[in-house]
Amino acid sequence: MTSEDLPPIEQHTLPISTRAPGKCILFGEHAVVHGAPELALAIDLDTQVIVRASDRTRLNADTEALRHNDYFRAALEARWRAGPPIDVRAVSRIPKAAGLGSSAAFVAALAAALGAAHEGVARADLAQISFDIERTAQGVGSPGDTSTSVAGGYVTLNGGDGPTLWTVTSGSQSWTVRRGSDPGWSWIVAYSGIPRSTQDAVRAVGERLARPDGPELLARFRSVAREGIRAIAREDRNETARAMRANQELLREVGVSHPRLEELITSVSECASAAKLTGAGAGGSIVALPIPGREAECIRRLARVGALAFAVRPARRGAGLVSETDPDRAR
Ligand code: PMV
Repeated sequence: MTSEDLPPIEQHTLPISTRAPGKCILFGEHAVVHGAPELALAIDLDTQVIVRASDRTRLNADTEALRHNDYFRAALEARWRAGPPIDVRAVSRIPKAAGLGSSAAFVAALAAALGAAHEGVARADLAQISFDIERTAQGVGSPGDTSTSVAGGYVTLNGGDGPTLWTVTSGSQSWTVRRGSDPGWSWIVAYSGIPRSTQDAVRAVGERLARPDGPELLARFRSVAREGIRAIAREDRNETARAMRANQELLREVGVSHPRLEELITSVSECASAAKLTGAGAGGSIVALPIPGREAECIRRLARVGALAFAVRPARRGAGLVSETDPDRAR
């Protein structure tokens, strides 16, 4: 099977258990919302969802979840409108509001389960459905997080020259999602401990890009992401590091860095080739490219400045039924 031909989620009867990975953005966050390229990878931290028949609809025992959980409500309205009551349990290893795609993983896992409960769902459709649900709940954003969670592995939006996986649309906007190449490197992610709102950060950047110099700034975001995507495809660590630093500079310029993120980035200046914020910023997490053999040192240095740091590997498998063979676990 080629990577253009990811398997559909098979039809299944309740109870259904699905899982979907979180993600880490290497290049292009924020700018991707405005059509620029992005490169992300699915990470080996996931959210698992179990859907059972029930007498009343609940999420983690909460019978009021439909009222106050926007993602849950949007998912059920999109995919379960006339369906019988269900009991949904969700367990996640992805820190929340940390820039690591916890909401996208929840949405992709739940949409995969609801799709399986119908007649099954093709992966391209699951990517569109998951984005629609996230966009309804958040009001803003790109399909980067949901498509990465659905596809697994490395993924590019609006860039790269890998096989096309699918195109996701919202009104007149569209994003082409392709398979990104895996350089085989390990990455370090560190959560600052400062939660933030993706919506607020995305809106603030949108306002910044609407100023007279916005188009020029967006053009710089575009070219840095293109350079980064090319550097990773060539497995060129120096060029990748240079593009990461340039991307961080731009993210600073549009106001989504944070003194804590800068502190975390500085703390790994000796043991990592480069580091930048990942996700919406304004808090959340950083991603670092450690110098080979110095991963543990980077984690120690980050822990010393109070960050929650861990090494991430790409999760090769995207959203799917838990019962499917998992190539990541078989390794
Ligand atoms: O921080 P997260 O996981 O919500 O990632 C957001 C990435 C953005 O580019 C800022 C928004 C988006 O939807 O692409």
